Amino acid sequence: MNFFEVVQARRSLRSYLDKPVEREKLEHVLESARLAPSWKNLQCWRFIIVEDAAGREALADSMEETNPGRKALMGVPIVVVLCALPSESEVWEGKDFMMLDAGLAMEHLVLAATDQGLGTCWQGLFSEEKVRKSLNVPDNVRVVAMTPLGYAAEERRPRPRKAMAEIVHYGKWGGLA
Ligand SMILES: Cc1cc2nc3c(=O)[nH]c(=O)nc-3n(C[C@H](O)[C@H](O)[C@H](O)COP(=O)(O)O)c2cc1C
Repeated sequence: MNFFEVVQARRSLRSYLDKPVEREKLEHVLESARLAPSWKNLQCWRFIIVEDAAGREALADSMEETNPGRKALMGVPIVVVLCALPSESEVWEGKDFMMLDAGLAMEHLVLAATDQGLGTCWQGLFSEEKVRKSLNVPDNVRVVAMTPLGYAAEERRPRPRKAMAEIVHYGKWGGLA
């Protein structure tokens, strides 16, 4: 796939096959995350790879029953948990670049996974405290998000997006093409 095909193919996938992910593929998606840009190149991100069933179940338990992503964590071979160190980024004029940096690295991982034929689904709605406890995450580290990583057992149509004219201004705010 070329880059745009990867971007077009990515979906949030919540149902997975009971099929292991090759080690090389895991290492490849992590390497793609490692190469992401960051505020002052501080690379605030850390990833926890959770493969054991009890660990995945504990992560699922950190989510509300109503979260559609919950079931994906139980049935997938790997959950990647995205952590970040506030001490390795900055809030500048009220903008939290730690969250931006961590998100960039995770999206690199997500797109690399798509390119490898693997499914993912960003998960942001969970109890950070529960995840912190189950994975021994220290107090000075934030748990930002997580994603299942595996072979998807479903195909999904693209979700709608805003029209280009709604999101792009030319020249100045409100400027038309
Ligand atoms: C920061 C972030 C947090 C998200 N959290 C959740 C979540 O907790 N549960 C879930 O099922 N999907 C979650 N999603 C997935 C979005 O619902 C999904 O990206 C959006 O509906 C667009 O669908 P698509 O990813 O298939 O294009 C999250 C996405 C992002 C970027």
